[in-house]
Order: sequence, then structure tokens, then C-alpha cells
Amino acid sequence: MRRSSPGQTSARFEPAGRLSGTLTPPADKSISHRAALFGAMCDEPVTVHNYLRAADTESTLNAVQALGAGVEDRGDELVIRGVGLHTPAEVTGGRLDVGNSGTLLRLLPGWLAGQPGGEWTLDGDDSIRRRPVERVAEPLRLMGASIDTEEGGLPPMLVRGSNLSGIDYELPVASAQVKTCVLIAGLLASGSTRVTEPWRSRDHTERILARARVPFSRSGLSVTVQPVDELELDHVTVPGDPSSAAFHAVAACLVPGSRIVIEGMCLNWTRTGFFRIAQRMGAVIVGDLEEPGEVSSWDEPIGELDVASAPLVATEVLPEEVPLAIDELPLVALLGCFAEGDTVVRGAAELRVKETDRIAGVADGLNGLGASVEPTGDGFVVHGGTGIEGGTIDSRGDHRLAMLGAVAGLASRSGVEVLGMDAAAVSYPEFEQDLRTLIER
Ligand code: S3P
Repeated sequence: MRRSSPGQTSARFEPAGRLSGTLTPPADKSISHRAALFGAMCDEPVTVHNYLRAADTESTLNAVQALGAGVEDRGDELVIRGVGLHTPAEVTGGRLDVGNSGTLLRLLPGWLAGQPGGEWTLDGDDSIRRRPVERVAEPLRLMGASIDTEEGGLPPMLVRGSNLSGIDYELPVASAQVKTCVLIAGLLASGSTRVTEPWRSRDHTERILARARVPFSRSGLSVTVQPVDELELDHVTVPGDPSSAAFHAVAACLVPGSRIVIEGMCLNWTRTGFFRIAQRMGAVIVGDLEEPGEVSSWDEPIGELDVASAPLVATEVLPEEVPLAIDELPLVALLGCFAEGDTVVRGAAELRVKETDRIAGVADGLNGLGASVEPTGDGFVVHGGTGIEGGTIDSRGDHRLAMLGAVAGLASRSGVEVLGMDAAAVSYPEFEQDLRTLIER
């Protein structure tokens, strides 16, 4: 089942004239994973509108099917026929392939750990074998599960389900994946389970649990859940992914004379930290972003953004902003190359354990294109004003580095060749086509 990283299809991105038009980003990856997983935990069918069809979220559909859930594809809707919270099919000794998906790798054990008598091994591609899982193994063991990992706390991960007890757990790092894993296990545990994060992370799990009529409460940085017998989630509409839209937004910020409209994007404040950082740098981004701290509705807020090019100034990203912009921090580095002054990101050591080491990947990648990015242990400092000359960048099999290279090419002086462009299919199979459609000829 173990596969090598995505192949090496290269693509060239020439300096662009200007970008214009309207973009509908692909469906949100985080919400799609949750729709499939929580759908599989329901007793009644759940209809999912606009599920992301990309490599990572196909892995989740395959995993829930391997656990006994039915998935009916009706074109623009999926119907998930779940097995209920307490009875995923017992594939004892079974292996579940998470592909390249760190989210699936961290969320699924929360469900499996609470199934007494069940035993599963989670494994995936080469990149997955470098993703730490001790962060979920530790709290699940404290709850009573038996979890084995490889040396260094890495996959493959063996989960033996058990009767769980609720815990009061403080996360060492802000991680929505770990928070979600422990909260799912908490639904199956006796007593209440409280998770406290050092900073707020994305809250799609809390919003979907509320919609599934699960009693939970939030107090500051803590979320508490109680055990339940069933989840009641009839329907999930997945909005457009802000992490995917951010690439086109940056292209529009950097290519002079550009103006684009992004439609149907998730405006949840716990996902739009990047857009607020970019606004602070001078980017013209106008729209109804949900206000930080606000939860206007348990439904994910969806709306439009208008993005236009403008001169940029450097900024310092604050530690509490890091989890709210974690997947977009490579794009902060690219904006920083064009900004006046030094752009500083600290407190983002998590970037070292994403699909690749994104601190090294961003620094090596952008420096290879003529930028001046200094990597630090937990972030980077971008010495601005260089812009991007051009050259070749290797995606290292990482979807977000591939898309970063493409956008850098449009904003460059002499064009960029991206090695391993096919990695984009992990979250955004139509990325290249969508980006090229926005370029005016
Ligand atoms: C995700 C949370 C983030 C993010 C990942 C998706 C999620 O990871 O980087 O792409 O869906 O919960 P961490 O919460 O572990 O930082």
C-alpha cells in the first residue's frame, strides 16, 4: 500500500500581464474530511453538497468505505450511509491507507480508539511516514486506548480500540487535527472530555458537532464534549477552500493591474488569518470576512472577496495568528519578497512537520528564485524588496509548494519552472487550469 510521493510533472509559469475574472475555489479540504468522517459516524444518511474531489479527500472516502460506510456519488452530491458512532466494521488486522492525508491520519484514530475489540493499522505514502502521530497517540492512551507507533512516534500506527474515559487535556501545540481527534474520542468516552489549546485553531469540528446536535461547550481556549449515542447530521454544504483561494489571491496582489473576485469561499475567521495578514501588508482585499472571535452561525459562513494589486509593506506574524494561517504561511513569505522591509514569522515550528518541511522548502525554493528568505528554527525572515527573478523550484511532492512556485512564476521577472507540479492534485486538481484562466491575454 505504501506509495512513493507524487511524480515529477513539471510546468512553466511565465510572468503574467494582469489577472482578472472570477474564481470559485475548490471545496474546502478540512470540511470535506469532516463531512465524510462525521457522516460515517451517523446512523441516518448524510448528504454532502460540493465535497472536494481531490486525492486527500478521496483517501477519506476510501477509508470510511473500508470501515463499512456506503458512499453514493450523485454528481454534485454525495450520500454517506454511515455505520453509527459505535460500530465501524471491524477490519481486525486491517490496514487503512490514508494516502498523503495528515488530517485523516490524525482524525480517524479518535473514532477507532473508542471501538473495544477493534484493531486497525493506519499507514500512507512516504510523506505520511514522516508525519508525527505521537501527538494523537498520547491523549488516546491517556483515555485508555492502546496505540503503537514506529520509532520516533511515526506511522504506521496500530490502534487497538478500548473502553475510553474522558480526560482534561492540554495540547502542547495548537492543532485542529489533534483537538478533533480527542473530541471524537470524547464522544465515545465515559464522562466529559476537555481539550485546551495554546491558541485558537480552526473550528470546523466544533461547528459540525453543534450542527449534529452534540452537546459541547467552549470557554476561552477550552472545548468540552460529553459522550453521545448518535450524531444527527442531515446535510453538509462544503464552501470553497480559503487555503486554495489564497494562491490566486496572492497572484492578484502581486501582478500589477490585477483585480479578481473570489466567490463561494469559506469566510470562517479561524481560516482567514492569512487574508487579514495580507490586508495588514497593504493588499487590497475586500469582503465580508467573519470578525475574529465571532461565530455568526454554526453553518460555515460563505461569501465573496475582491482582490486587487497594491504596493506591500512587511509585517510580523504574531504567534496567535499562526494556527489561523498555518497552511498559507508559505504565501506570506512570497508576499514578503515583494514588500518593503523584513517580514517575520515566528512560532511556526509546525511548518517543519507538514507534508514536507515547509520552512526549508519555502526558504530553499524562494531563494533559488532570487529571493532572500532566512530560515529560522520556528519560522523565517524574508528580506523584502527583491521580488522574484525566476528559475526552477522543486515541489518536493508538496501540493502547497507546487502552487507557491506557480504563483511566484506569474509575479516573476523571467518565469518559473515548477518540478512536481502534479502534487497540486492532493488538494486542488484544477489549480493550473484555474490560474491560467485568470491571466488576461
Ligand atoms: C487541518 C489542520 C491543520 C492544517 C491541515 C488541516 C485540519 O493542521 O495544517 O492542513 O483539517 O484540521 P494542524 O491542526 O495539525 O496544524
